[in-house]
Amino acid sequence: MYEDQFPYLHQYRVFYSQLDIILKNNLTIQQDNEEIGLLIGFLESLNYRLCEGGPSLEIGVRHGGFSFIMARLFHLRPMMVDIKNYVIKFHELFDNHNIRFTFIHGDSTKKETVDEVKTRLGGEPIELLMIDGYHTYEAAKSDFDNYSPLVKPGGIILFHDILDPGPKKAFNEARMNHLSLEIVSARTNHRHHIQGLGFGILFYQLGTVREEGMRVGGGF
Ligand SMILES: C[S@@+](CC[C@H](N)C(=O)[O-])C[C@H]1O[C@@H](n2cnc3c(N)ncnc32)[C@H](O)[C@@H]1O
Repeated sequence: MYEDQFPYLHQYRVFYSQLDIILKNNLTIQQDNEEIGLLIGFLESLNYRLCEGGPSLEIGVRHGGFSFIMARLFHLRPMMVDIKNYVIKFHELFDNHNIRFTFIHGDSTKKETVDEVKTRLGGEPIELLMIDGYHTYEAAKSDFDNYSPLVKPGGIILFHDILDPGPKKAFNEARMNHLSLEIVSARTNHRHHIQGLGFGILFYQLGTVREEGMRVGGGF
């Protein structure tokens, strides 16, 4: 009954059921639950076309919780890049749920890591790119510049922690050329003493709101 009045409620339930699995495995996801719940609900409510079986790429994965959830809900094939090797901790979780994944251990801003990602993709376009590595402006911009050309037109690019000055600046520059929006929970917005959290979403190469003459979104 509540689902009729609040369509995202179902997605919150779906999200929390996945989160439970992650927590039971003593792993974490470094997200605000409301923001990721809204992100999932938003993608679902748009009936957004992410091709099942297609690759996702997460830069900065910690315990892999984000890629795990996206793989479970949207049936994506996760590729993950991290400068630290956490793979020992999460490979069992992925294996136990039959999720085929690729982990690349390296600095996302280095040419050899970018080349390794390209080799492993073998020309297949990325459906969903999550930029959540080193949180300086230079690193977030470098990640966007290096990996966004590998995303399919109309694919999704997420910047995490857009309340952090570095990712925020990189996102605000990138969104000038692509349809975009932000998801920031009220709770996050009020945590002035802690920097971080908030999703920036780009619909890659779908143009800008300005081009379509609407008075919402970024780039004005
Ligand atoms: C905020 S955590 C990622 C959280 C994860 N995306 C999630 O949703 O749970 C940031 C991660 O970025 C990694 N990292 C930092 N600098 C990096 C770099 N230059 N290249 C690759 N990974 C990096 C860190 O080791 C850490 O695991």
